[in-house]
Parts: sequence; structure tokens; C-alpha cells
Amino acid sequence: MIKEDLVAERIAIDSYREMIRYFAPFDPTTRKMLEEIEATEEEHADDLADLLQNLPKDLRN
Ligand SMILES: [Fe+2]
Repeated sequence: MIKEDLVAERIAIDSYREMIRYFAPFDPTTRKMLEEIEATEEEHADDLADLLQNLPKDLRN
């Protein structure tokens, strides 16, 4: 379950990065908002990765 959540966070990060690239040339306000959201998603992914790493090996999959 945690692994699936981590994959979902990474997909969200990729989606935000794509949106940031799209808006960057003409809408700096939206770009900045998306960058802040993306940073939060990165924190979520880091938290889940840490959680996974601290689980006993037999519970990681
Ligand atoms: Fe998230």
C-alpha cells in the first residue's frame, strides 16, 4: 500500500512538473503556485520513501 502511494505521489510530481513547464512562459503566478504544490508533493514522496525504508523487509512489498 505504501509503495502504491509512493508511485501515486511520483505520478503527481511528474504531472505538476509538466504543468509548470506549460505555464512558465506566460503565467508566472500559476507557475509559482504549481511549484509550491509540487514541493509539497515531493515532501509526501520523501515521507513515504522514508517510511518504506524503515519497514521490515517482509512488509515492504
Ligand atoms: Fe501528496
